[in-house]
Amino acid sequence: MTALTSRKILLAITGGIASYKSAILARRLQDQGGDVRVVMSKGAQAFITPLTLQALTGNPVHTDLLDESAEAAMGHIELARWPDLILIAPASANTMARLAHGLADDLLGTLCLATTKQIMLAPAMNHQMWANVATQANADTLKKRGFLLLEPDSGHQACGETGSGRMPEPEDLRDQVIAWFEQQSAAGSAGNPAQISAASTTNPSPINADLLKGKHVLITAGPTVEPIDPVRYISNHSSGKMGYALAASAVEAGAQVTLVSGPTKLDTPQGVTRIDVQQATQMLSEVESWVPDTDVFIAVAAVADYRMAGIAEEKIKKQTEQMTLTLVKNPDILKTISLRDDRPFCVGFAAETEHLAEHARSKLQKKKLDLIAANDVGNRDEPVFGADTNALDVYWGEHGHKRIERAPKRDVAAALLAIIAERLKNP
Ligand code: C5P
Repeated sequence: MTALTSRKILLAITGGIASYKSAILARRLQDQGGDVRVVMSKGAQAFITPLTLQALTGNPVHTDLLDESAEAAMGHIELARWPDLILIAPASANTMARLAHGLADDLLGTLCLATTKQIMLAPAMNHQMWANVATQANADTLKKRGFLLLEPDSGHQACGETGSGRMPEPEDLRDQVIAWFEQQSAAGSAGNPAQISAASTTNPSPINADLLKGKHVLITAGPTVEPIDPVRYISNHSSGKMGYALAASAVEAGAQVTLVSGPTKLDTPQGVTRIDVQQATQMLSEVESWVPDTDVFIAVAAVADYRMAGIAEEKIKKQTEQMTLTLVKNPDILKTISLRDDRPFCVGFAAETEHLAEHARSKLQKKKLDLIAANDVGNRDEPVFGADTNALDVYWGEHGHKRIERAPKRDVAAALLAIIAERLKNP
């Protein structure tokens, strides 16, 4: 077995002189057992012909959005679902700008909007174009939305200039693709939790792609960080994995997903709009701005209960043996939203060390929630914080209760979304 055996890779080639390297890349991926299909933009076809790629891969090359015969063989939506990974190499400045704006007037743009699969880009362009603020802003937007951007190489460029913007060599790109698949496999095994993105844990249980179709799901995740002075802060150990897993699963369930996140080490799940915040007050105002368009609000964030009454402008000096910080209560984001007249369906999380059902039900009532998912965090043999698995007890109404047994967080997320969808239909 080779490194990419039975891995499905959709190689998208866009306009640029580096596109000739992509013909070799297709072969290098196939050498490792990869099942490679190719999409070519109009720009790419000015440099290299679809026939070359068809001959090399042995598969028809996809070029048009509205080509009846191509659509009959494998339509753009099927093509979006088919791969394990979409690799755009070279990714031109124009392609990055188009993707950043979500344009859907060609096959690649449509595919990228329709897919829930990881999209990896190998930007390649003149070094001034790469350094341009517009391109860098587009790169930031794409990273925030969960695209993986590979670093371009530096060196002599086809235009005669020297700088950063060269497409890495095909062998190097092949190795980066292999490394990505290996990381995915590691995430699926017991693995090192520190390296694992909950959102990308492999092989989650399939979720009905229409479950939350047309719904806007707003999720908070991660910790909040409350500054004490310019160098110190109050926070907690929340990894954000459960919230990110829910965001990824909600996209798969057909929802439009906005994730308001405290600082985490996780990648943005594909298809999710992520807004980064630090403090609870910032998290609240971001959430409030999205609520009017929200159908389901899931508060997973571990919001700090208190913040400093006033943040010191200068670093606080150590002088006395003891010191007292004056803290004030943070707003309860979930409760603030659930008390609004235009409230969405509100879901809370509760981490309890004892009397799980009792405490969870009491929070359900006090925060006026539609549903609460409770974690037993008292069991030291089965940690929740930072772990890749979880088990939940879900409560609603007077007597509603369902247990979601311990499983990878993506599977638990899918099961919780199924309960939420059911409650949405039968309130
Ligand atoms: O009150 P407690 O912190 O146990 O409540 C947990 C639930 O409330 C979680 O869903 C959490 O995201 C949310 N919460 C919030 N704002 C706070 C505190 C908790 O949204 N200030």
